[in-house]
Amino acid sequence: MNRAVRLGSLRSLAFLNRGTKSTASLEQSLLKTSRQYSTSKNPINVGPGFYNFRGDFKVMMMNIQTQMSLILLPNGKYLVVDTIELTKDTKKEIDELTDGGRIIESVIGTHSFHTTHFEAFHKSYPDADYYGTPRHLKNIKKIDWKGDLSDPSTRRKWNPDVEIRITEGSEFINPYPSNRLSSAWVFHKPSKTIHINDTVMYAEDPGFLFRMIGVKKQKMTIHPSIHGYGLKDHPEAPFEFRDFVNKAIIDWDFDNMVMAHVDNKLGGAKELLKETVEEYEPVFKRLHTIKKMIQ
Ligand SMILES: [Fe+2]
Repeated sequence: MNRAVRLGSLRSLAFLNRGTKSTASLEQSLLKTSRQYSTSKNPINVGPGFYNFRGDFKVMMMNIQTQMSLILLPNGKYLVVDTIELTKDTKKEIDELTDGGRIIESVIGTHSFHTTHFEAFHKSYPDADYYGTPRHLKNIKKIDWKGDLSDPSTRRKWNPDVEIRITEGSEFINPYPSNRLSSAWVFHKPSKTIHINDTVMYAEDPGFLFRMIGVKKQKMTIHPSIHGYGLKDHPEAPFEFRDFVNKAIIDWDFDNMVMAHVDNKLGGAKELLKETVEEYEPVFKRLHTIKKMIQ
């Protein structure tokens, strides 16, 4: 994102003046950051107070990317959503945004199987409050987790600017190992952005591997595990999932979706997600019929 767009975003920061930092100082610190990052890939300033970082993630020699987002909260502190490898450059960028990590309030893990980089992140930023999926808490013992996202009170912690919902029709607490469909969706109102891992993916120009699993150019794809263990066993699960997505489309005023994996959809995300759910209707119906037959 170029500097002009960043500055445009900064102008709409007036609503953030509800916490410990003044709008002016927030704008100044972000302006400083904008200048420093105007030519670098990371972070992408998606909208006011929303920074998306892309990280490398290789599957069969192909870099399908993974992600982390930093959300500026009304109190002037940051909520970190997911973690990526802390390369020297990435750490430098995070440190500059967050005053060396001192204004990172919380770190959350939204997907049961996106766990790799949490320990290293915690080592670098041990003073934040950490929240994850139940699987994060079960498998990463070195972090003193403050709670998990299956608890509605945890999901409400950053309201009203940030809303978090868990996909329905899919197991979140104890997911089958191949279930990549289930995740917590994080919606940031001021930037009109949803952060999603795996449940839905988007590729500008998918490579061979992604084309093999049905990913189409400039289209969104629901994770293929929907056809396997992604959904719960009962016949209504496909429709519960579909209705969850439709409710997000109705309730949330979003324009952008940042996604692992492969690309982000910046601008026009709501229309494309709506189109995607409509296109998948025969799939939801077929899965319903199959589940009914084998019940
Ligand atoms: Fe993933």
